[in-house]
Amino acid sequence: MTDILAFDAYGTLFDVHAAIARHSAAVGPNAARLSELWRSKQLEYSWTLTLADRYRDFETLTSEALDFALARFPDVDRALKPRLLDAYMTLDPFPDAPGCLSDLKARGASIAILSNGSPRMLDAAVSGAGFDTILDAVLSVDALRMFKPRAEVYRMVTDRFSCAPADVVFVSSNRWDVMGAASFGFRTIWINRAGNPDEYATPAPNAVIGDLKSLPALKV
Ligand code: LAC
Repeated sequence: MTDILAFDAYGTLFDVHAAIARHSAAVGPNAARLSELWRSKQLEYSWTLTLADRYRDFETLTSEALDFALARFPDVDRALKPRLLDAYMTLDPFPDAPGCLSDLKARGASIAILSNGSPRMLDAAVSGAGFDTILDAVLSVDALRMFKPRAEVYRMVTDRFSCAPADVVFVSSNRWDVMGAASFGFRTIWINRAGNPDEYATPAPNAVIGDLKSLPALKV
């Protein structure tokens, strides 16, 4: 395994559905659909604003996406919004994430997060999960005021580590993010947790695995 790895945060290291899951009884029978819509609107806003050369930080987009999802499912109590947003600030890491990061660190790798998340969101998630002692860098797109998959965003990693794109292995569960990273020239690993069909035919990921457990031993 290469010695510079950059991880996507949301959906890859942190479970974006953990916020709703923590309050699923209060949210009610539409909890899973609300969570899916919340996430898809949050991403849609990041893409459309970037295409329009506009920017609002990811925390704001997360709140606006939740407003939309709550309006779409009027049976869900809107008074839950502050609690759901609070839960989003300290999302649970996936159970395989801490072991994967510590294993890579023990092998001498440099490890970074490269995320759409605002610095405040990433600080809270990273310290909540205890990843602050393992990570060499937490890079937020907020410094550039544009979102993935713009090439400028992936360049933050090569700038930080003074390396070439091919020196970096980029890890994401978001297939569109893998496409952006591979287009920039990173080697890529798609974590296909959900068993989704493949998309974005080229450039293909260098490896596709179902979770983070086998990643430290993987050769790409
Ligand atoms: C991130 C989003 C894309 O962490 O999941 O950048």
